[in-house]
Amino acid sequence: MHNLNLELKRFADLDELSNAAAKEVSELIRSVVAKKGKFSLVLSGGSTPKGLYRLLATTHRESVPWGSVSVFFGDERYVPHTDARSNYLMARETLLDHIPIPSANVHPIPTDFSNPSDAAAAYESVLSAEIPGEGNSFDLVLLGMGGEGHTASLFPFTPSLDEKSKWVVPSDVPPVPHKRITLTYAVLNRSSAVYFLISGHDKREALKEVLSDAADYHKYPAKGIAPVNGKLVWWVDSGAMNG
Ligand code: 6PG
Repeated sequence: MHNLNLELKRFADLDELSNAAAKEVSELIRSVVAKKGKFSLVLSGGSTPKGLYRLLATTHRESVPWGSVSVFFGDERYVPHTDARSNYLMARETLLDHIPIPSANVHPIPTDFSNPSDAAAAYESVLSAEIPGEGNSFDLVLLGMGGEGHTASLFPFTPSLDEKSKWVVPSDVPPVPHKRITLTYAVLNRSSAVYFLISGHDKREALKEVLSDAADYHKYPAKGIAPVNGKLVWWVDSGAMNG
């Protein structure tokens, strides 16, 4: 898939990457809020964005108009929000508990339904109420990528990759916890901007594939992220790409 709006930003290490990303995210929030009064931000899980989240909660805490920001999640592990593996818990500990954001603006993916399908449907209703049904969806989606090319909880060769209408689906994935909920390409690719944050040697092979024109999104799901009317920025460190 060729995407003319693709930009690659390279950094020596994760600290440098996180500092630059935090500065740009905070500037983007300020400029969009100045124009339209609000900003929708989708957070990713994993460990790579923790530095960015901490910087947003410290260095950039005072300069971001948090009261105008709505926070969503790209995926969630189907565990209680108090479980150490919860993406929501990670986001609270690194960012949300440390900024003046109204709790009504924070939309975690629910994990307390008796099955993930009902939870996915409930989150789809939350999204439908909060974002436009047509045109661009979110102002900014943050994503990571696993060493085998998954992103959010869109894993290689799983049915969620071919979901064309639902925005949120349950996904049974190879790593534990197996049960997860993920946003789909149908809504992620309507974002105004997607930033992938990629660090470390274990991402090198998948990154090379995903950035090549030939890659298949069934094998490398990160390749399926291509905003139709937005920009795609890959933030990578020298562990993930050099030379
Ligand atoms: C999750 C994710 C997932 C993550 C990648 C990269 O819940 O696990 O949202 O898609 O972003 O697995 O994770 P790391 O940043 O830990 O490498």
